[in-house]
Amino acid sequence: MTPAQATAASSGLEGIEAGSTTICNVGQGQLLYRGYEIHDLADNATFEQVAHLLLVGHKPSADELKRFKSELVSLRSVPDWIIDIVRRIAPNSHPMDTLRTGVSLLSHVDAHIASNSPEHNLAKAKRLLAAIPTIIGAGQRAIDGKPIVAPDPALDHPANLLYMMTGNRPSELFARTMDVSLILYAEHEFNASTFTCRTIAGTLSDMHSAVVGGIGALKGPLHGGANEAAMDMLKEVGALDNVRPFMDNAFATKRKIMGFGHRVYKNGDHRAPILRSWGLKLTKERPEFKKWFDIGDAVQKIMLDEKHIHPNVDFPCGMTYFTMGIPVPQYTPIFVASRITGWCAHIMEQHENNRLIRPLSTYVGPERREWNG
Ligand code: CMC
Repeated sequence: MTPAQATAASSGLEGIEAGSTTICNVGQGQLLYRGYEIHDLADNATFEQVAHLLLVGHKPSADELKRFKSELVSLRSVPDWIIDIVRRIAPNSHPMDTLRTGVSLLSHVDAHIASNSPEHNLAKAKRLLAAIPTIIGAGQRAIDGKPIVAPDPALDHPANLLYMMTGNRPSELFARTMDVSLILYAEHEFNASTFTCRTIAGTLSDMHSAVVGGIGALKGPLHGGANEAAMDMLKEVGALDNVRPFMDNAFATKRKIMGFGHRVYKNGDHRAPILRSWGLKLTKERPEFKKWFDIGDAVQKIMLDEKHIHPNVDFPCGMTYFTMGIPVPQYTPIFVASRITGWCAHIMEQHENNRLIRPLSTYVGPERREWNG
């Protein structure tokens, strides 16, 4: 649907252009982060370079990258009292809820919480980016009944994220696969969580409040929660022989196939084949996980042949993170560890050129009537 075809009452705001941005362009033919195409970034950039591109606004020079990375390393630690709360709530909570609370708690120790100035916003974005893996790691270690692992300054952001969750330093292939997945997840224009962040920022509320709202929006299975739901669904299918009956039943009951479909992409999500290829590389080291890609391929063929619906990035993500041994409920928090860059870039863009976001609704309720009539 083109913007011209969309009406003011377009269901789900489909086809509505709700603002302009210099950060990202989501198109049928390409996905650009500040002009750089996603295949180019996945092949040639690291997540920290992409984070700099999104947050600072340009590709970093070698010196800028060195400074940016060491700044992030220096900002990884989280106050003990916050870690204590995270560890207390994590065993009985979904990790997205734990992370949402953890980010909210971080606002209480941020010296510039009330300031939306570009300098303070950029500083806050870096602190959030650096601290989120520490919260995710502390939560997972508590779930596993293990002591917290301190961040390793020698590890880059993606490898440190894996290390803090597992206590093991990942292999080069595992670290690079996580790196690529974070690049792919970093930014996607006016998706539901980013739009939530911008709506909150548009009231001149602060970055932490906007990010807490973004986490809430990302959690849902129609958005970021789909990477967990896709893997849970594949586990439910369980075996190649079960794909056909599972899909027949899903079609008969109008059950959604998680990790498929997209509001904007109608000919496929540019990110999905990139992540699938990295996931498949992992199965060379862990052949026992190849089964999940075979089941996924069979599901994908039926969806394409019979519904003409393509997989989105969350579909290969499920299989890839599963092959890496990451617990399924951590998939969407890992999405946050990446998308925090896109969210913060949008919050800064909103604050720098703000107008309150306040659309209209079409009223379809009762006509005016009298209370005492
Ligand atoms: N499985 C089965 N049918 C589907 C699916 C699916 N995954 N996606 C769309 N359809 C069908 C839908 O039933 C509808 O059919 P009909 O017109 O006969 O009623 C038609 O396609 C249009 O679907 P829609 O739900 O109206 O489309 P939308 O633009 O509102 O929704 C979506 C987009 C992503 C919410 C939807 O495709 C969906 O629910 N997918 C599953 C969840 C998912 O994978 N979400 C991740 C989105 S992308 C990455 C991210 O945000 O993390």
